[in-house]
Amino acid sequence: MSEPLTIGIAGLGTVGGGLLDLLDAHSARLAAMIGREIRITGVSARSKSNGRENRLGKMTWFDDPVALAKSPTNQVFVELIGGEDGVAKAAVEAALNAGKHVVTANKALLAKHGVALAALAEKNGVALNFEAAVAGSIPVIKTLREALSANRIRRVYGILNGTCNYILTQMQSEKRAFADVLKEAQDLGYAEADPTFDVGGFDTAHKLAIITSLAFGSKVALDQIHVEGIESITQADIEAADSLGYRIKLLGVASESDAGIEARVSPALVYKDSAIAEVSGVTNAVAIDGDFCGNILLVGAGAGAKPTASAVASDIVDIGFGFIMPPFVTPSAKLKVHKRAKLDHHYGSYYVRLALDDKPGAMAAIATRMGDRGISLESIVQHRPVTPTAPGAVPQPPSKAAATVIIITHETTEEAMRKALESIVTDGKVTERPQMIRIEEL
Ligand code: HSE
Repeated sequence: MSEPLTIGIAGLGTVGGGLLDLLDAHSARLAAMIGREIRITGVSARSKSNGRENRLGKMTWFDDPVALAKSPTNQVFVELIGGEDGVAKAAVEAALNAGKHVVTANKALLAKHGVALAALAEKNGVALNFEAAVAGSIPVIKTLREALSANRIRRVYGILNGTCNYILTQMQSEKRAFADVLKEAQDLGYAEADPTFDVGGFDTAHKLAIITSLAFGSKVALDQIHVEGIESITQADIEAADSLGYRIKLLGVASESDAGIEARVSPALVYKDSAIAEVSGVTNAVAIDGDFCGNILLVGAGAGAKPTASAVASDIVDIGFGFIMPPFVTPSAKLKVHKRAKLDHHYGSYYVRLALDDKPGAMAAIATRMGDRGISLESIVQHRPVTPTAPGAVPQPPSKAAATVIIITHETTEEAMRKALESIVTDGKVTERPQMIRIEEL
C-alpha cells in the first residue's frame, strides 16, 4: 500500500466529532478503496479538553489552525471551524497557498469568498471541496459539479434549512407557536448559534449562492439574492394555506432566463401533493431541472454530525483518488458575472392575507385596487373575526375590529402585486401590514 493520505482537521465540534467517528468506523474500507490509509496527523479546536483527549492518540495538537494549515505533516486541510472571515478564511488561504488540498463545510466562507478561494486553489493545482457546505449528506455539489455538468440547468430550488422546515412542519401538524418550536430546534442542535441566520433565510441564502454558481456557471453572488425569512408566517397563514390545498415552505429558488438570474429565498405556497410539500421536519430537499436530465429531486438529512461527516469524508476520498477539478466546475476566471433579473418582473400567483376593517365597502375597495393593476383574483375568502382564547378560557364575542381576508391571485407580476398592496395600505382599509407569499408551481 502507498504512503498514507495525511489530513489535518481544524474544528472538532459536531461535524468534526462525526468525522472522527466515520474515519474510525470505515478506516479499512476507505483504505482499500483509495489504496492508502487516511491518517489524521493533526487537529486543532477551540479547547483541548472536551472529553475527547483520549481520542486524539498520535495526532498532533495545534493551538493555531493556521499553523495546522501550513504544517507539512498533512496533505489535506479540513476546515470545520465556520464563519465567513477570521481564522477559518486565514487557515483555508494558508493551506491553499501551501499547495494543500482543502475540504470545508463552511457555507458562509464560500458564499462570501468562493470565487477568490477557487482561484487560489486553481493557481496552486489543488482541490477545494465543499460537499458538506450545502444540505448535509445530500450530494448536491457533486451532482451539479459532476453528474449534471453537461446539462444547461434551468432551475434549481430546494428546502435548504432544516430548522425552518422543522418550525413550519410543527406549526402545521401540531399547531404550535413559532417561538416554541424554534426553541426545540435549538435544543435539538439543528439551529445556528444565532437562529436569525436560520429563520431570517440567511443560511438558505448562503447555500443558494453556492448552488446558483454551480448551476449557471456564474460568480458566487450572495448580495444578488433576495432574502425573506419565515418570521412573518403566522398560524393563520399555515391554516389558510392548508384549507386551500397548500403547504408553506421556506424555499431557495434560482432560475435563469434571458433577463438574468432570479435567485430568492422566501416562504412559498406549494401544492400539498407536490413532492417538495412532502419533505417534512429537518429533512432537506434539492430539485434540479436540466435540459437533458429533466427533473431530479434529492432528499435527505441536511444537518447533523453523521450526515455532514459523510459529505466531508466523500470529499477526502475524492482527493485520495487524485480527483481534482475547478471548485465551481467552470474555471474561476471564466465564471460569468451574476446578472440579476428584476424580481419585479417575477410572474406567478400570490397568496395575500389582509386584516381588513370590517366595514361596508372595504372588500370592494381591495378588489378595485387589485383590478386597477390588472390582477385577476382566483379566490377571495373572508373569515369571521375571532378573538383568540387560551385553552379552557371562556369564549369571547368576536372582535368587530378586523376581518381576515385571504386572496389567491391568478398569475401576475410582482410589481403589480407590490403596487396594489401599497395602494391598499395607503387607502387605510387594513389594520396591519398585508402578508404576501408567492405560490410556486413545482
Ligand atoms: N442550521 C442549519 C439548518 C444547519 O437548520 O439546516 C445546516 O446548515
